[in-house]
Amino acid sequence: MKEAARQARAENHVVGLVPTMGALHEGHLSLVRRARQECSRVYASLFVNPKQFGANEDFAKYPRSFDSDAALFAELGVDALFAPAPDEIYPPGFSTYVNVEGTSDRLEGRSRPGHFRGVATVVLKLFEIAQPDYAYFGRKDAQQVAVIRRMVRDLNLSVQIVVCPIIREADGLALSSRNAYLNAEERRAATVLHRALQAARTKLAEGVRDVLEIQTAMRAVFSAEPLAQLDYAEIVSADTFEPALRVAGTSYVLVAARLGKTRLLDNMLIEFAEKDSAELILTI
Ligand code: PAJ
Repeated sequence: MKEAARQARAENHVVGLVPTMGALHEGHLSLVRRARQECSRVYASLFVNPKQFGANEDFAKYPRSFDSDAALFAELGVDALFAPAPDEIYPPGFSTYVNVEGTSDRLEGRSRPGHFRGVATVVLKLFEIAQPDYAYFGRKDAQQVAVIRRMVRDLNLSVQIVVCPIIREADGLALSSRNAYLNAEERRAATVLHRALQAARTKLAEGVRDVLEIQTAMRAVFSAEPLAQLDYAEIVSADTFEPALRVAGTSYVLVAARLGKTRLLDNMLIEFAEKDSAELILTI
């Protein structure tokens, strides 16, 4: 991979990287398509990163479908697929980690200690190996994007981070490799995350800026869905992921919930149409 990357740079290619853990769905493929439009060389990585899974999480049973994933990447015109073995990425004695303080500690970081340390560490290694000009990530994992952006700024990395929209099922459920864990009842109930975001959207469109009032509306949606356990429903600054009391500046409405044993995430982006304007652009 490093040799291919060196060659691409020598030939002045614009290199795009799409990091994934496989079990591909349209969300992943949308990143590849975007990269294909913007770059003359597109690399994908497929690595189920053990360091970003907690001890009690689903690393062992995370869905793996290497052959069909490789075929999909090839169909979309990926120039090289980097799919290393775990001990190539983490050889014996591995002991260097990237810790993005602050952004990593809240919300997902609080529910999943060590998760973002694992993500930042592997993503930095992938950047170093593939040397991309652009790297493509989904807004679905908004806190992951914030952690990676912070790392890129703090470590003076040359890569540009491109954030792509959330791809959803027809009923609003955000695509996720973990949706495969849901049984039929949980699958029906899983739209509760999207419905809670819609409730937040309604409040914001009515002019509500008080976060407690918006949270109350989201919690009411969850209360009516006994199969789902809400983990958090928060509004945070898009940059720092610091929870807000009033909506001001570019922000995210974030929800995380458990359906049975499956933990799902979703979010809505809040932008102000112009500086000092009250008009909001709400993107689910
Ligand atoms: P993974 O969960 O496989 O996701 C790979 C990329 O696909 C991430 O950038 C994620 O945000 C994006 N993605 C997932 N679902 C999406 C959807 N419904 N719409 C749009 N994009 C979506 O995220 C990871 O892997 C790992 O943490 C990784 C960055 C590869 C590091 O190990």
